[in-house]
Amino acid sequence: MEIKELFKSYKDYVNKEVEIHGWIKKSRESKTIGFLEINDGSFFSNVQVIVNSDLSNFKEIFSLGIYAAVNVKGVLVEPENAKQDFEIQATEIEILNDSDKDYPLQNKRHTFEFLRTLPSLRARTNAFNAVFRVRSELAFAIHKFFNERGFVYIHTPLITASDAEGAGEMFRVTTLDLNNPPRDEEGKVDNSKDFFGALSNLTVSGQLEVEGFAMAYSKVYTFGPTFRAENSNTPRHAAEFWMIEPEIAFAELKDVMEVAEDMVKYIVKYVMEKLPEEMNLFDQFVEKGIKERLTKLVNSEFKKVTYTEAVELLQNSGKKFEYPVKWGSDLQTEHERYLTEEVFNGPVFVTDYPKDIKSFYMKLNDDKKTVAAMDMLVPGVGELIGGSERENDLETLLQLMEEKGINAEDYKWYSDLRRFGGVKHGGFGLGFERMVMYMTGMKNIRDVLPYPRTVHSMKE
Ligand code: 4AD
Ligand code: MG
Repeated sequence: MEIKELFKSYKDYVNKEVEIHGWIKKSRESKTIGFLEINDGSFFSNVQVIVNSDLSNFKEIFSLGIYAAVNVKGVLVEPENAKQDFEIQATEIEILNDSDKDYPLQNKRHTFEFLRTLPSLRARTNAFNAVFRVRSELAFAIHKFFNERGFVYIHTPLITASDAEGAGEMFRVTTLDLNNPPRDEEGKVDNSKDFFGALSNLTVSGQLEVEGFAMAYSKVYTFGPTFRAENSNTPRHAAEFWMIEPEIAFAELKDVMEVAEDMVKYIVKYVMEKLPEEMNLFDQFVEKGIKERLTKLVNSEFKKVTYTEAVELLQNSGKKFEYPVKWGSDLQTEHERYLTEEVFNGPVFVTDYPKDIKSFYMKLNDDKKTVAAMDMLVPGVGELIGGSERENDLETLLQLMEEKGINAEDYKWYSDLRRFGGVKHGGFGLGFERMVMYMTGMKNIRDVLPYPRTVHSMKE
């Protein structure tokens, strides 16, 4: 039986024979009696097993290494008081496999940096077990949130010819022999000879593709891996990360922000209720006060400030920033931190950024200088969400593309959406790993991805 089932309804099993399997997390013994702590990963806590020395393989059991696998039959002993856990008095223990003595995760606290060197083993520690369970529940909560609101989940392609963010940070997908590629008459690499017959990349965002589906269903979202060849070696950037991108037809920027705020609150609340033990662990060992911070967030109203106002706040702050604040340049991490941690003390939407620092598809505001964009910034993490209303006027969109040096012909399938019943619409992208960081207090994106892919990091 799963250990989770045992913990949830141990009262049904008191004085009865039970059988569990799992791995030995801890073991200690004296001459007459021994104790094992067993876990199968289904539940946060270990099950305590009492082993009397008259059990035939007592000696073998207590010479096993940490993380040896066993099958235990025994009788469930009721706890003496509410504070104590139940125990299993073993009647038979089968050894499934030993674990070598050089097992690198002995029972002491290891640093997250050290554990990063053991990606296939680190989920066995309590902290990472909790992180990846939160990751799983968060993903589920996101689907639940959108499903309950009638959004259709669209699987946008991972291989694509377009550069959704127009930032040129894409990983090429090719079957050409790059040492000796086919060339055209001018000597340029002939991509028409490649597998897809065109230059192909891993997607940086499913937004453009999902916009097409928004014009069919009104409310859609995509949730999948995205890839960016950004040369940013920071605790917040990964080359492979997951993104949630809803897209809503007949919607303006304010509607998009409302969905973003509702979603963040919903998923935080869901995980806090679903995983109280895990949240206690983060509160105790990763970030003191995180539960209080998240509870406050669920019950607060997110602040809103325009980019222009934010720049003024920063300029008037009297703070010495490493990067000076100037209207027209992007906000740096230190600026985002100041706004969320010192001015607003919580999440804040920054809206209406200068068009020159944002992507080509964002709706141009009446001032012709800013776009109807929003970033949701949160303390500790910085930019959690980026989104916008989309430019729905064909002429303006084509002009924005030209300004940004984008070949309109390549995106005709996209701009044509404006010619066939296009309506105002918008959406956003939530960086899933940043959400997991925010939810757990983990400070490095490498510690919330099961197998992180970052610059110069490929091992497994
Ligand atoms: O702000 P970004 O680039 O927006 C988009 O991709 C839009 N197409 C979204 C949309 O409107 N549908 O990325 C969205 C979010 C960021 O706010 C950030 O949380 C996360 O994705 N993100 C990254 N997370 C980890 N590593 C990276 N290299 C990231 N780049 C962006
Ligand atoms: Mg962004």
